[in-house]
Amino acid sequence: MGLTRDFFISLSKNQLLNNGAKKWGLKLGASKVVAGTDIDSMMRSVKELNSNGISATIDNLGEFVYSREEALLAKANILETLEAIQMHAVNAHMSIKLTQVGLDVDYKFCLENMKEIAALAANYDIFINIDMEDYGHLQETLRLLQELLKDYDNVGTVIQSYLYRSEKDLESLQNVRLRLVKGAYKESAEVSLQGKQEIDENYLKLIKNRLLGPAFTSIATHDHNIINEVKKFVVQNNIPYSRFEFQMLYGFRSEMQKDLAKEGYNFTTYVPFGQDWYGYYMRRLAERPQNINLVLKSMVSK
Ligand code: FDA
Repeated sequence: MGLTRDFFISLSKNQLLNNGAKKWGLKLGASKVVAGTDIDSMMRSVKELNSNGISATIDNLGEFVYSREEALLAKANILETLEAIQMHAVNAHMSIKLTQVGLDVDYKFCLENMKEIAALAANYDIFINIDMEDYGHLQETLRLLQELLKDYDNVGTVIQSYLYRSEKDLESLQNVRLRLVKGAYKESAEVSLQGKQEIDENYLKLIKNRLLGPAFTSIATHDHNIINEVKKFVVQNNIPYSRFEFQMLYGFRSEMQKDLAKEGYNFTTYVPFGQDWYGYYMRRLAERPQNINLVLKSMVSK
């Protein structure tokens, strides 16, 4: 299989390695893209970003949650992170995966957990973004979001441009704050575009439609071609900078992140932290096998 996307995706799903990695601490170069294993180290990174005019969306990493105990522990960690955001008065919100707080255990249980999280976040005026996972979880994610929106307006989610259905989904979420991405999972040709060019074209199309609508949009990509197209489009269409932001992952194109913030664009960095770093890191290697350099450098510097 070599160092291919599929190879790293299969590594990311290996539960034994995921569990082992919790005991290792950050290894294999992961510290370049994961902001530490505890709240204190993560907060140092967030303050550093804030000092460069960059906001953060914090992901308390968690994978393979199939029991109520693990989901409740994840919820407790997320509530603790919200308290820390409030206490440190940093410019940050949170990104959460529903499987982490029990979507694979029971839908209603997950909804109750998310209501508790959304309530505390609303109290502190903190936005909660629900990350979009694989296609098998999409329908329930959108359903749960709609349930939350009945009581809370500080929640939103992610739309992936590789899915055929995304254009329709965007129509039904016109008034909801959203992040637009290309899509990180391996999906079948029945439900998703397969070629990079088609996915990129659809991404730009969805971004442009969305920017002409009423709600706030996060454009999450490291792709300079897409970013340059967006820059031109907002000027041509008189779209104010306050209506959108760019987002990138922690540790990726850091200089470009600072430059975009300096140019006056709203910018948010996705800051993952926690002991459960392994699956996240393997998916990043899958997206960009060149990042294997991080692993090799970390090995020779030992
Ligand atoms: P892509 O990987 O297509 O790269 C395009 C080009 O950009 C490359 O050819 C290269 O020229 C350049 N480039 C990219 N990375 C570079 C680097 N590190 N250094 C130099 N040049 C680089 N997915 C999902 O399914 N659900 C989700 O909830 C999220 N959430 C999310 C949040 C944020 C903040 C980001 C940035 C991304 C996500 N994603 C996601 C992941 C997303 O779907 C996608 O898989 C990755 O962002 C990779 O696609 P890109 O758009 O970054 O460009």
